[in-house]
Amino acid sequence: SSTATQDSADEVAEPPPLATGKETSVVDVNPPRGTRDFPPEDMRLRNWLFQNFREVSRLLSFEEVDFPVLESEALFIRKAGEEITQQLYNFEDKGGRRVVLRPEITPSLARLVIKQGKSVSLPLKWFTIGQCWRYERMTRGRRREHYQWNMDIIGVSKVRAEAELIHAIVLLFERLGVTSLDVGIRVSSRKVLQAVLQMYSIPEHLFMEVCVIVDKLGKLSREEVEKELMQAGVLLEAVKGIVEVLSLKSLSKLEEVLGSDSEAVADLKRLFSLAEHYGYSEWITFDASVVRGLAYYTGIVFEAFDRAGKLRAICGGGRYDRLLSTFGSDDIPACGFGFGDAVIVEFLKEKGLVPDIARQVEDIVFPLDVELEGPASKVVSSLRRKGRSVDLIEDKRLKWVFKHAERINASRLVLVGNSEWQRGMVRVKNLSTREEYEIKIDELC
Ligand code: HAM
Repeated sequence: SSTATQDSADEVAEPPPLATGKETSVVDVNPPRGTRDFPPEDMRLRNWLFQNFREVSRLLSFEEVDFPVLESEALFIRKAGEEITQQLYNFEDKGGRRVVLRPEITPSLARLVIKQGKSVSLPLKWFTIGQCWRYERMTRGRRREHYQWNMDIIGVSKVRAEAELIHAIVLLFERLGVTSLDVGIRVSSRKVLQAVLQMYSIPEHLFMEVCVIVDKLGKLSREEVEKELMQAGVLLEAVKGIVEVLSLKSLSKLEEVLGSDSEAVADLKRLFSLAEHYGYSEWITFDASVVRGLAYYTGIVFEAFDRAGKLRAICGGGRYDRLLSTFGSDDIPACGFGFGDAVIVEFLKEKGLVPDIARQVEDIVFPLDVELEGPASKVVSSLRRKGRSVDLIEDKRLKWVFKHAERINASRLVLVGNSEWQRGMVRVKNLSTREEYEIKIDELC
């Protein structure tokens, strides 16, 4: 594929060609590497996906919000060593301000929550769909720009919030025709790691850094992760303890290790019990290895994955109860998820679940004579005022018009001909029934 060939030329900056003074400027027709154009058929698919995002958000009574793609760099400066902070599209604007093309939306959302202050009544249930930028090494489904659907609940500390968010994800999958045989949602809690750190008396300030390192299990070898943990100041014994706990796949085993009064266990049990009532138990599994790579998560974390294991996470999220205080405000409990447009489309393509979304035009108006451009204008104007979607075709042969009608799924062809027009009529051909008739212009609707 074109991406594969682009990938192989990764990162190596080519020297600029020597100037001869005779160059004509030939523009590269490809968009910048890792970014996409959306020709009409891709745009129809994107709109279809976004409509599903919006519809599910509506089902959960979330309100839509939006933020600038360009943000202040300070919002994204974090010290836990996250990948995302090393992939920033950052620069100085003409006014000397440090800005970034946002790599994610959560910090902007936190900023707006702080800005709105005490005037808002909690909880807030907000969703947004927006473009994010990360200077990534590209692999399948991983790009330098992607769109993300985010749903966030601000002001609910109970696990109900997580249960609602996972319900939204499951509803979306069901609408797309995805089943729990092919996709699952892994759930764990950062409180698991927190408890292990306490068991080994590891200082609290190492928590975020440890989470970020541990998230690399799977990408890096176990030895490499262990080495990084030790470099961060975690003792060998604790490192072994952490890695062991993270391999647990059953809640009862976790309870054995952490004890029955563990908050992590209580939260997870509550979530799994709620899941039963919602009716989505078959979608979710406990897996202690899920940590997520962002520093700010504090409680339950989750990710959707394809069970065949071919793709990266389809979506991911969790609870982030302490993000606001990192921006100097009082904390408010919060959780949410980000669901990208790229991985899910890869998955749908693989499963043959991408719908055939054709162009939808209702009428084609075709004047049979050059002199009839005035009357044709009148007809399209009247139909469009009545709410019909109308394609005006001129300077083509009738044969081409019929082919075109088929291509764009038009339901009627309105022919404007001389003799009919003189009688105040047009000729209509219903393209599905093949029925043909004349009708008064005023009666055409
Ligand atoms: P994230 O796990 O970094 O979380 O990204 C969420 C989702 O965005 C991923 O699961 C994937 O679908 C998509 N995504 C991320 N990076 C790329 C990429 N380079 N190419 C294609 N798709 C990508 C967050 O961003 C959190 N802010 C989500 C969140 C919202 N947590 C709480 N609220």
